Amino acid sequence: MKKFLILCLLTLATALHANSLQWPLYKAKVLPELSNIDGWCSHEKAQRMMDLIYETHPQICVEIGVFGGSSIYPTACALAYLKSGVVYAIDPWTKIDCSEGYTPGDPNYEWWNSIDLEKIYSNFLHMLKKHKLQHYCKVMRMTAEQACPYFVDGTIDILHIDGNHSEDSALRDAILYLPKVKSGGYIWFDDANWESTTKAISFLRDYCDEIPEMFANNCILFRKR
Ligand SMILES: C[S@@+](CC[C@H](N)C(=O)[O-])C[C@H]1O[C@@H](n2cnc3c(N)ncnc32)[C@H](O)[C@@H]1O
Repeated sequence: MKKFLILCLLTLATALHANSLQWPLYKAKVLPELSNIDGWCSHEKAQRMMDLIYETHPQICVEIGVFGGSSIYPTACALAYLKSGVVYAIDPWTKIDCSEGYTPGDPNYEWWNSIDLEKIYSNFLHMLKKHKLQHYCKVMRMTAEQACPYFVDGTIDILHIDGNHSEDSALRDAILYLPKVKSGGYIWFDDANWESTTKAISFLRDYCDEIPEMFANNCILFRKR
């Protein structure tokens, strides 16, 4: 019996060691696929998002603004590697929500109204299936505001805010979801260099610390105090 237990422990230790050795190789396998997914997540940002998950073992991740899933993909892949946790993918995939805060003639309004969001959504679902990520990604086709009551305060480990970037929407996402994040939890905020996201960022700065070395792709990483 004692020998059997020692053997089990040795096997477990070897497996854990092998896993940690394989992480760089796993990322090298995952990242090239990004170029086949609709969206804007760079390799650098995807890698940082994956490393944060690898280092912190989150149970609940939330992304506001999914589009084709280019930032959900590395997130769900990292969770799949750890075999634990889930990312909630929140996006209504509607022109009306994408255009909120913009008026006809504004380049943002025109761009969002030129996109076939149903096609982007179905490509996203196909991508999850192709990579067998459905277990690690729960899709919530609704606005961030509608999804908010489903989350209990202080339960989100990692939040990614990348929804509608108009001033009111970005600020609303930050205000609504900050209480949902645990103290010590993380918040990625994308397109932090846009003038319209300035208010949301300064709101988050009042409650969170910035992690400057994680800045990637104009995306700031905050840690909630
Ligand atoms: C910049 S894209 C997301 C990009 C994606 N995270 C990536 O890295 O490729 C913004 C997304 O926000 C979504 N969106 C618009 N209004 C929203 C809202 N009220 N709540 C949640 N998502 C919203 C849009 O449908 C769009 O897919």
